[in-house]
Amino acid sequence: MKIVVLTGAGISAESGVPTFRDADGLWEGHDVMQVASPEGFEADPELVQRFYDLRRAHLTDVEPNAAHLALGRLEKTLGPDLLVITQNVDDLHERGGSTNVLHMHGELRSALCLACADRFEWDGDLSHAPACPGCGAATLRPDIVWFGEIPYRMEEALQALQEADLFVSVGTSSQVYPAAAFVHWAAEQGARTLELNMNGTIASEDFDEVRTGPAGTLVPAWVDELLDGL
Ligand code: OAD
Repeated sequence: MKIVVLTGAGISAESGVPTFRDADGLWEGHDVMQVASPEGFEADPELVQRFYDLRRAHLTDVEPNAAHLALGRLEKTLGPDLLVITQNVDDLHERGGSTNVLHMHGELRSALCLACADRFEWDGDLSHAPACPGCGAATLRPDIVWFGEIPYRMEEALQALQEADLFVSVGTSSQVYPAAAFVHWAAEQGARTLELNMNGTIASEDFDEVRTGPAGTLVPAWVDELLDGL
């Protein structure tokens, strides 16, 4: 059985990573376009670098929760038949044991060079304008897909969605495209669809089944159920 799991900020909420659109979310108190668009970066690069430096540094204070660990456990049985497509830029899936992870919105622990277009693993700050390890220019930016930019690896995602028997959406508000369209792409090809979220979303009616509650409870329960049935 081939499974695609799409994850959003809600899966990392119980680890202490703030979501975006919930009350107390990351976009509260921030003009989204100021810190998540190429125009915002051009207008005030230091502000944007500091915003992502703080988020990158915060990763050392958080740990994967039961939902990340359950997906890691599921991969041990399914191997490459499980693909996690995440909108998250944290590294909690990898630290939870998943290896087949597609970061469609980029990664905090990566830097992108505006001069040579290469990407580099990056753990420190970027606000002091360090030199690019590839070309030496001081032109590194966070390797995050901002509004108006094209998500990474969408051909692979589409291919996996076309082949999926089951599509599961976890902890995403389904307000940002193209991820919000994945449920349709998967269903059109005959996949069963399941939404796991704290609340219903604007996309809930498009799923075959919806379960509401915290990801740290729902995801391990779903994985146990699936493994029992194999
Ligand atoms: P949102 O903040 O829009 O939505 C988070 C979802 O998680 C909501 O539907 C919440 O109900 C749900 N949620 C919160 N806590 C939860 C929990 N403990 N268990 C289960 N669900 C929970 O975040 P995303 O949908 O991920 O893009 O946002 C999508 C994109 O918008 C992000 O990748 C980001 C943002 O702009 C970029 O930064 C490029």
